Amino acid sequence: MEYKVLLTTSGIGSRLGEITNFTNKSLVRVGDKPCISHILDNYPEEIEIVVTLGYYKDQVKDFLSLVYPKRKFTFVEVENFRGEGSCQGLSMLQAKEHLQCPFIFNSCDTIVESNIPEPHTNWVIGSSEESNDQYRTIDKQGNIFLSFKEKGEAPNSDKVLSYTGCEVNINTWKGLRDLTETLREYGDITKSMPIYNQDAIQCMQQYREDAFDFIFTSPPYFDAEEYDENQSQSCWKYAHYTDWFDEFLLQGDKDMVRISKLAIVNVANTGGYKIADDLRKEVSKEGLLKEEFRLRIPQFGGKFRYEPLFVLSK
Ligand SMILES: C[S@@+](CC[C@H](N)C(=O)[O-])C[C@H]1O[C@@H](n2cnc3c(N)ncnc32)[C@H](O)[C@@H]1O
Repeated sequence: MEYKVLLTTSGIGSRLGEITNFTNKSLVRVGDKPCISHILDNYPEEIEIVVTLGYYKDQVKDFLSLVYPKRKFTFVEVENFRGEGSCQGLSMLQAKEHLQCPFIFNSCDTIVESNIPEPHTNWVIGSSEESNDQYRTIDKQGNIFLSFKEKGEAPNSDKVLSYTGCEVNINTWKGLRDLTETLREYGDITKSMPIYNQDAIQCMQQYREDAFDFIFTSPPYFDAEEYDENQSQSCWKYAHYTDWFDEFLLQGDKDMVRISKLAIVNVANTGGYKIADDLRKEVSKEGLLKEEFRLRIPQFGGKFRYEPLFVLSK
C-alpha cells in the first residue's frame, strides 16, 4: 500500500542531557549505527519519509542525503523548535500538508524490533515497559486503544476506568458520592465517576449506544417502598402498576440494553405484583433475556432469600 512515514527530528533531545549538546538526538549511536538508521531500516526503500528538521538540522539533512541517496525524503523546517510553544505536536502540524494520506508517525528515538504493520487501520505501538515518568503512556483495554496518558500518570490496563451512578433519593445519592472517594482510593478507577441525582430514565437518555461495558440495577418495586418525597421516585411518578411497568421498568431495561453491552437487573415478585414474572415474559419476547440467575440475600437467623437476576443484552 502507499503510505508515508513521519519522522520528527526537530526537538532538542533534552532527556539525553549532554549527549545531545552537539548533535541531533536521531544521530545518537545505538549499538552499531545511529538511531535514525535503525528506524529507516524498518521501512521499505520506496516509502517516502517526511522529516521535520530543527535542532542541528544540517547534520540530519546531510546524513540522510549522503547515507540514503536512493530514499525519498521530504524535509520540513520547523522554526519554533525550542522554548515556549515548541512541542512535538507543533512540529507534526507543520508537516500536515505532506501527510494527506495514510502515514506512520515514528518518533526519532523509537526503535521497533518487530515488523511494523502497514497503516491499513489506525493503530498505536508502545513499549511494554512499566516506566512512565519520562514518557507518555497508552491507556488501553485489551487491545483497544483508549487514550494517551501524560508523563507520570499511573499506567493502567484492563482495569475499571470509571463508574456512573443514578439515584433520586438525595441522601442515598450523597452516600453513593462519598463511596466514589473510597473506590478511587482502593480501586483502580482512573477517570471521573459521575453520580447523578436524577430520574434514571432521563439520565440514560444522554448516553450513546454501548457507552458502558456493564450496568447493574436494583430498581424500586413499584409502590412497595416509599424511599422519600422526591416526585421522581417511581412510587409517586406512576399511579398504576401497568404504567410503572411499561414506562419505568421495561423502558429502563430497554434503555440499559441500548447504552450498555451487558446489563443485569435484580427484581422480585413483591407486594402482590408479579414484577419478576412480568419482566421475564416481556424481555424474553423482545429477545433481550440471555440468562437468569438467583441472587442469594442473607436474612437474620442465618437463612437466605432468593431473588431473580436477569442478564440482558442486545
Ligand atoms: C431497591 S432500591 C435499590 C437500592 C440500591 N440497590 C442499594 O443497594 O442501595 C431502589 C432505589 O431506586 C431509587 N429510585 C426510585 N425511583 C427512581 C428513579 N426514578 N430514578 C432513579 N432511582 C430511583 C430509590 O431511591 C432507591 O434507592
